[in-house]
Order: sequence, then structure tokens, then C-alpha cells
Amino acid sequence: MSGDGDDTKLVRGGRRPEWTRGIVNPPVWRASTILFDSVAQMRAAYPPEDGRLHYGRNGTPTQWALAEALTELEPGAAGTRLFPSGVAAVTTALLSVLKSDDELLMADSVYAPTRAFCDTVLQRMGVSTRYYDPLAGAGIAELIGPATRAIFMESPGSLTFEVQDVPAICAVARERGLVTLLDNTWATPRLFPAIAAGIDLSILACTKYVVGHSDAMLGSVTSTAPHWPALCETSRMLGQHVSPDDAWLGSRGLRTLGVRLRQHGASALRIARWLAEQPQVARVLHPALPGGPGHDIWQRDFKGASGLFAFVLRGGGEAERARLIDGLKHFGIGYSWGGFESLALPIDPQRVRTIRQPDAEGPMVRLHIGLEDPEDLIADLAAALAAYPHQN
Ligand SMILES: Cc1ncc(COP(=O)(O)O)c(C=O)c1O
Repeated sequence: MSGDGDDTKLVRGGRRPEWTRGIVNPPVWRASTILFDSVAQMRAAYPPEDGRLHYGRNGTPTQWALAEALTELEPGAAGTRLFPSGVAAVTTALLSVLKSDDELLMADSVYAPTRAFCDTVLQRMGVSTRYYDPLAGAGIAELIGPATRAIFMESPGSLTFEVQDVPAICAVARERGLVTLLDNTWATPRLFPAIAAGIDLSILACTKYVVGHSDAMLGSVTSTAPHWPALCETSRMLGQHVSPDDAWLGSRGLRTLGVRLRQHGASALRIARWLAEQPQVARVLHPALPGGPGHDIWQRDFKGASGLFAFVLRGGGEAERARLIDGLKHFGIGYSWGGFESLALPIDPQRVRTIRQPDAEGPMVRLHIGLEDPEDLIADLAAALAAYPHQN
């Protein structure tokens, strides 16, 4: 498939004729027991690997097809493992590289449940976590000590959208023999092929843009060759498995990822620019807007922007923010993002950050811009903002 364009890879990936038998989208193969003709054939199916039926937990062509399609999006990758959620992908990737007495460098802007895992399970295992400024870039070298084993990035960061200098951090890590992991959920490999940028383990909450319709939970980790055996072993030992129905929804969503991301990205940027001009809005946190943290790096490294960003209100408090969000007609109030429907969420990154606090003149709101007409969304936001206590 090398040489194919990005959208062509999304359409063609993983659809091997021996898995699809001519059916366009790889169908659902459900299984626990798989029957063999003989003991010899059963023994020959060991060790389990994608492409060879062995036992349900090791997958069927439905899961293999999605994993292969995701691998093809990451030039330089050895393979992809699927997980029942984005959090399961993050935690298993971390467990595959860390052991007791190791230190992990973790971006301060990381998704809060990733942080919680470090501060609970990893801490109990004897792994210490040191949080770092997501804008550290090559300066991360100063934080590396004798016990440091891995650097985890998330770019742009959750809630505050700092864009990290992934190539610079990876160059330092390679020089010092450290493993690099990236939560690449915001961009997906369609907008940022992470392995080509130097990342060892590229993680997606496929629940968001890959599935794309808010109706399934799914995660993935795509790995380079040196880290692939440990990733496979750890996920097998933990019994990680994805239902073929959910993998099928992932494959189905993947085919339209390119066109959906273009629409999410264009509408979100239009709305972000409009919001930046409203007197009730103190600042908009969107990687594609000049002046934002890491905007120049986004411009250098990314092929586009997706639909998730945040804004800071000028003044007001919890009650005013809640009224503003409650008053929106076209934005659902709920967790997650990446689906076709727009969502609004009150966010308070200050509560969890320990290294880099956001500049916040007032309460913050995160928006996911869906596939509705952007004019409808702007009209909705305009009406809600008009009722917001206006402070100059
Ligand atoms: C950046 C990021 N990573 C990981 C996750 C976790 O994904 P899941 O909800 O599928 O566990 C989320 C969920 O919101 C997320 O925003």
C-alpha cells in the first residue's frame, strides 16, 4: 500500500480478500472456540498471531483488518494492537514499557484518567511519575535522570491544547535510550503520522474519530518493531480483547475518517475564529490559531486540525457558565468527542495541573464541533453568549 495517498489508505486498508471474501467492509466474524481438523493442526496454530485463527481472544479477520488498516496509516510501524477503550490502550502501552523503580516523564496536559493511572496503579508498582511542561521541547533533556525509562506525550494536550515538539523530544529520547509514547487521539495518524515523527508507541482512543459516531468504545496502540513483542505479550497477558462488533464499527468509521476530519476541522476553525472576536470570550485555545501555545509547531508538523478546542470566558463563574452551556440548542452536554454531533463541556484543568496552569480570565468551555451546518452552531453560540454577563 506504500505510495497510496492518505485517503486511499483509509479506504483500502486491511481489506485482504482472504478476510473479506469479496464483502466490501470486513464482516463480523464472531468466535470463542475455533475448531481444528487435528491435534497437529491445532499445534501448528501456535503461537497466536494476526492472520491465523487460534482462539477468540486472539481475534478473527474482523479485528485483524482494523489493526492492519491502522498500521498502514503509520509509515515505519510493525503492527497494531486493539483495546476495548482508549484508556485500556494507554495503560497497557505504559505497562509494556515500565517496571518497578522506573521513572516516567508525563506531560502535565495529559488526559486526566491517564494521570490518575500514573498516580495510583503505577505508583503502587513502584514506578514514579514526573510531570513536565508540555512546551518543554528539547529542554526535556534536563529532566532525564538515571531511572527515567519513558516519555509520554499528548499533543495537543487535553483541555488546553498545547502542541508538543514531538520530533525534538523523540530525538532526545533516542539519544538517551528512552521509549516514547504519544496519545495521538486529537490528530489521528491521518493528520499526524506519529511513528514517522519518531514515536515508538502511537496510541489512539478510537472511540473518538475512528469510530466517529459515538456508538462504540475502542482503543489502539501502533508500535515500532523493537517494542512490538512486549506490547503483544502485555496485552495478551492482561487478556485485552475487542469485540468483533466494535472492531467492525471501527473499520466502518475508518473509511470516512479523511472526509469527516476535513469537515470537523474546517467548521471548528471557522467557529474558533468567530469566537475569538466575541467580547465575552477572553481567549480561544485552538492549535491552528496564531498565538496559541505551540501553534508554530502545529503548522510545521500537522496536516490539518480536528474539531476539538476550548475557549476561556471573560469573567463570570460556575453558575454563569452552566447557564451558557444549558442554553445551547445544538450542542449536547456529555463526555467524549469525535462523533458527528457537537458537544459542549465545562472544563477546569486548573484542578489537576501541577506544572503549567492555563491563563484563565474566567471559566473554560470545551467544544467538539460536529457535522452540523456551522452557521447553525454560530447562531446558537451567539444567542448563548448574548445572555452572558458582559465584562469589558
Ligand atoms: C485524549 C484522550 N485520550 C484517551 C481517552 C480515553 O478514551 P476512551 O474514552 O475510549 O477510554 C480520551 C477520552 O476522552 C481522550 O480524550
